[in-house]
Amino acid sequence: MDNVRNPMSLEIAEFDQARDLETFVRIYNQIYPHMQISAQGWIAAASHRSGFWRMVMARQDGVGVGFARAMTDSYDPSTVEVSLGVESASRQNGVGKALANAIERAVAERPERYVRVFLREGNEVGKAMAESYGLRLYATRLRFEGETQDLVLTASTPPNYRVEPIKDWRAAHEVVRLTLRDDPDDLVAPDYKTFRELTVDDPGFVERSNLGAYYKGKLVGITLLRARNGQGEVFYTGVVPRHRAKTLATVLKARSIFEARRQGITNAYTDVHSGNTPMIRANEKLGMKRAVGLGQWVMRAEIAGLNDVRKTPSQ
Ligand SMILES: CC(C)(COP(=O)(O)OP(=O)(O)OC[C@H]1O[C@@H](n2cnc3c(N)ncnc32)[C@H](O)[C@@H]1OP(=O)(O)O)[C@@H](O)C(=O)NCCC(=O)NCCS
Repeated sequence: MDNVRNPMSLEIAEFDQARDLETFVRIYNQIYPHMQISAQGWIAAASHRSGFWRMVMARQDGVGVGFARAMTDSYDPSTVEVSLGVESASRQNGVGKALANAIERAVAERPERYVRVFLREGNEVGKAMAESYGLRLYATRLRFEGETQDLVLTASTPPNYRVEPIKDWRAAHEVVRLTLRDDPDDLVAPDYKTFRELTVDDPGFVERSNLGAYYKGKLVGITLLRARNGQGEVFYTGVVPRHRAKTLATVLKARSIFEARRQGITNAYTDVHSGNTPMIRANEKLGMKRAVGLGQWVMRAEIAGLNDVRKTPSQ
């Protein structure tokens, strides 16, 4: 007979690396099998990043069964990003709700303006839970992917431009600042220190796949790729307005993935806002295909407008 879980034995406590890391890794790997960053990498990346970071664990009969984390969004210091995971055997037991309540109380005290949750596309349970706190579906991010050997990586650089590995990271940061504002995802460029943490200082940094397009010696476009468990994640491409629609984004991405393939990366993926036609077109021209179900729902709310958890029905 199955053990009957007594909900009174549920405990929500601060994450304690020494005690909880192993449990966290197990749960993380179970619920995010498609994530290309390892659980250890996730913790390491979070703790070497600047900004706010808080994680709580749910323990049932002393055994870890879930986690909830809030941290400053690396792309937007005005936003706190929340993730929550409960191992499959412990679901529908109020664990998720208890974790969400605990993390929401922490978020409600934060000075940032927004709270954002990324959900796997199709996760209706997560969506309903986020909605009960006042978050609303704000954007859908589509995932495109392909085996690097199958992609069309032959696009040639237009005349008068050169494509080379980025050397001047200050200039690259400026290109992110100048282009990200046109991405319909409505993200804010990270500061320079955070930008370096996401790129040159990231353990998955692939030097020859981080490329710049130069016009008369000036950097006018970039593409950024990092390795995640042997896969290449193209996580940002931007071309300054005056140099758009000249195939630069397509060329940059093709060359970046080509270099990654030469270094043994067999699969590449990229996420894009569902309304970003130019980037979607470029992905399609490279032969990348939409991975249905691996995209994300972005839910968001103003922290000041979150529903009071004490008034939230307990199920
Ligand atoms: C997305 C972006 C990088 C595209 O750069 P680009 O150098 O203009 O792209 P390309 O020239 O390679 O064009 C790619 C495709 O988009 C099309 N395109 C370009 N501008 C377009 C526009 N304004 N509207 C519709 N389609 C457009 C191109 O025609 C091409 O498709 P086609 O071959 O079928 O004609 C650029 O618009 C940008 O920097 N946007 C802001 C940042 C951003 O959103 N980055 C994506 C993060 S995932």
